[in-house]
Amino acid sequence: MNDTQVGIIGTGFYVPDKVLSNQDLEKMVETSDEWIVTRTGIKERRIAAADQATSDLAFEAAKKAIANAGLAAEDIDLIIVATVTPDKFFPATAVILQEKLGARKAAAFDLSAACSGFIYGLATASNFISTGMYRHALVIGADVLSRITDYTDRNTSILFGDGAGAAVLGRVPKGRGFRSFVLGADGSGGELLQLEGGGSRCPSSVESVQQGRHYLRMNGKEVFKFAVRVMDSASEEALRKAGLEKTDIDLLVPHQANIRIIQSALERLELSKDKCVINVDRYGNVSAASIPIALAEAVEQGKVHEGDRLLFVGFGGGLTWGASVLVW
Ligand code: UT7
Repeated sequence: MNDTQVGIIGTGFYVPDKVLSNQDLEKMVETSDEWIVTRTGIKERRIAAADQATSDLAFEAAKKAIANAGLAAEDIDLIIVATVTPDKFFPATAVILQEKLGARKAAAFDLSAACSGFIYGLATASNFISTGMYRHALVIGADVLSRITDYTDRNTSILFGDGAGAAVLGRVPKGRGFRSFVLGADGSGGELLQLEGGGSRCPSSVESVQQGRHYLRMNGKEVFKFAVRVMDSASEEALRKAGLEKTDIDLLVPHQANIRIIQSALERLELSKDKCVINVDRYGNVSAASIPIALAEAVEQGKVHEGDRLLFVGFGGGLTWGASVLVW
């Protein structure tokens, strides 16, 4: 990375009010609270209201992050929305959000990297700022997974929730800011986690809907194995690139997919649970929103202090993965 220090100068998050508990799911599919808690660590997740789309959730998170940064919407030069559930195919959700915010100066685009999207977005925005092209960037992870979840499929319906998390990036004093980024992709695993209906390969039709191809499908076992492997390797690489050791980490902010995946990462990194942000029990897997919600919540709760070394790490459909070290 070059000499310009880029960091996170504001955070915010939003989750819808409606709670879908494991007990609610027991009435919808053949499952139990005990199975879900033991296998995933999830107790409940949030579900967007019928009139809430991804940009609405993103808007609430973005407003908070911009205010937290002490800025106004007109100060934002770039908006990146990482999502797999955009409001529409196009225009991009980021552009819809630009209008809602009144961020008239901002360029805006969406980024599709599933659950790794927020880290991909941070890396992208950080580079725009370090080259001097932009001063302030808003990076948002937002998803309304309930719109693409098949609530008759117990393999997936128990996992996902809705929400949005946002971060404002800008220049920070020397010694702080991002120290490394690791981004990866392996398209050979694309079919392990996908939504194929409605795209140019399988356009929406009565048949595609009857076949349930407008829903997310996943091979959970294989994704699990991939996740454990890549959380470890991406974390190690991000630390190595930052010139740090495992023992230097003050706070791990991992993708919140499954408590067992997080526990495995903690073991490999030899970290205690109190050095990790965990909210998978309350929000489930919120895809691209899960890391920024975890970060914003930790900031709000006073768990992040100046000079702390944070490690972000996540994985998702694509397959994709990402990790980053940031000095707060
Ligand atoms: O952001 C990335 C998104 N994806 C992920 O992170 C997912 C990663 N994978 C996982 O988290 C786990 O693989 C799951 C939580 C999805 C599944 O847990 P698992 O321990 O891998 O279970 P399994 O798929 O091996 O299933 C074990 C058993 C099966 O029954 P049999 O074949 O052993 O009789 C499943 O049919 O559990 C059954 N099962 C369930 N039982 C009750 C699967 N889902 C459920 C359920 N309730 N909801």
